[in-house]
Amino acid sequence: MGPPGAGKGTQAKVLAEKLKLTHISTGDILRQNVSKATQLGKQAIEFMNKGTLVPDELVTKMLTQRIEQPDAKKGFILDGFPRNIGQAETLDDMLKQRNMSIDMVAYLDASEPVIIQRLTGRLVCSVCGAIFHTKNMPPKKDMICDHCGNSLYQRADDQVETIKNRLQVYQKESAGAIQYYEKQKKLHRLDADLEAETVINNIIHLAAQYNDSPKV
Ligand code: AP5
Repeated sequence: MGPPGAGKGTQAKVLAEKLKLTHISTGDILRQNVSKATQLGKQAIEFMNKGTLVPDELVTKMLTQRIEQPDAKKGFILDGFPRNIGQAETLDDMLKQRNMSIDMVAYLDASEPVIIQRLTGRLVCSVCGAIFHTKNMPPKKDMICDHCGNSLYQRADDQVETIKNRLQVYQKESAGAIQYYEKQKKLHRLDADLEAETVINNIIHLAAQYNDSPKV
């Protein structure tokens, strides 16, 4: 968990590779639906462009379908879900039905100036979803993905006004979910203003305490 631009996607991709777990990002799945103009994409685009949350029933239905896929059976890293108390409770119910539970919640804590700098410079691969930054993590070739060679783009919601709205929505909506995991002593706060390598090392150090599978 963490505010927009804290580095959830960047770190979750690396962690998933290292732990050989599936990375499930609700934002990525929603953007795929928008680009394919599916029914869900058409319903979600208006909320995403404004920087508000897509209604819970749409996102939880989408997530239920995703965790039914074979690659999620051995556990997964969730990125961008849950975002409010209702989603946190629904997630627990979904997992209980599958004899799974949450091991730990890494909370990436980033400050507003850092977030704005990161999001206004973010570049994303149009095909594989790899994440770059014009200054912090520049691609080797201008606007070309290092991993798959396809073109990079700037997300529609990475405009300063939309970023500020996303931050407000995040603070208002996520407080309940943060408290929910704090009460269960599952939430670990990490300084996400630090450089990416330090942040991932800190997450890996935490994750090492949870060795039994399946993992969520
Ligand atoms: P989503 O895609 O989840 O967006 P977000 O939560 O706003 O988070 P971001 O993807 O913007 O940031 P990130 O923390 O992943 O940062 P990143 O690693 O890319 O959701 C988008 C929208 O979909 C929402 O607004 C909502 O409408 C909808 N949605 C999604 N989930 C939903 C849900 N559960 N319920 C309802 N609606 C939902 O890094 C950012 C940049 O910083 C990159 O350029 C990166 O290279 C750079 N960077 C990262 N870490 C570092 C570092 N340590 N040092 C320097 N640079 C860094």
